[in-house]
Amino acid sequence: MVKVEQVVKTYQLGKQQVQALKGVSLEVQAAEFVAITGTSGSGKSTLLHLIGCLDLPTAGHIHILDKRTDTLSDKQQSWLRNQFLGFIFQSFNLIPVLTAFENIEYPLLLQGLSPKQRQQRVNGLLERVGLSEHSHHRPDYLSGGQRQRVAIARALVTKPKLVLADEPTANLDSKTGTEILDLMKDICLQEKTSFVFSTHDPKISHYASTIYTLKDGVLRQ
Ligand SMILES: Nc1ncnc2c1ncn2[C@@H]1O[C@H](COP(=O)(O)OP(=O)(O)O)[C@@H](O)[C@H]1O
Ligand SMILES: [Mg+2]
Repeated sequence: MVKVEQVVKTYQLGKQQVQALKGVSLEVQAAEFVAITGTSGSGKSTLLHLIGCLDLPTAGHIHILDKRTDTLSDKQQSWLRNQFLGFIFQSFNLIPVLTAFENIEYPLLLQGLSPKQRQQRVNGLLERVGLSEHSHHRPDYLSGGQRQRVAIARALVTKPKLVLADEPTANLDSKTGTEILDLMKDICLQEKTSFVFSTHDPKISHYASTIYTLKDGVLRQ
């Protein structure tokens, strides 16, 4: 599903170079639930951005579904993101002026489905994440846990093969964080969607099929 080979990422900060990743390799199989832990600044977001084709590696290669992503055109990368990948962020990144329904529907607008097909898909996901009654609410009217449920539904609405989640529980209290991890794990098992997510959650060993730790830009299992 995903193959990361000897990936290096160096950021240029003025005259200074920051080596965020120093040769990271990992593989993710279909339906795997992979956690990446590591202290702040260890390179977790960088790795997720590279896998998600939101940025390019300085060296090394990433393959998604046997396609090498660094040689794709911008257009092909957008297509891959829209067809195969879903994203969940720490700060939810919902569009404040849109309702829960509209936020979830948004990625589908690029996919040429009829309004009726979109409605069926979105309502199915609202039910799946337990928010059918909040479909017409804007993010402001939802709790943190409910917002992250909307974000999960939005990430899943295009039926991605791989969901990337950057500290999805970091802004939630521990009970709500556990509920979100439970939901992601259920979806992983039922839909056979792979998840790669970064976390500081100490309970993660109960959930993940594989746990990696990033330290100083190096990945260990
Ligand atoms: N756009 C950027 N420009 C310069 N340095 C960056 C940039 N993004 C991240 N870094 C640096 O790369 C390192 C890894 O950052 P990051 O991937 O955000 O770690 P984490 O998500 O684990 O906190 C840090 O030293 C950070 O300061
Ligand atoms: Mg980060």
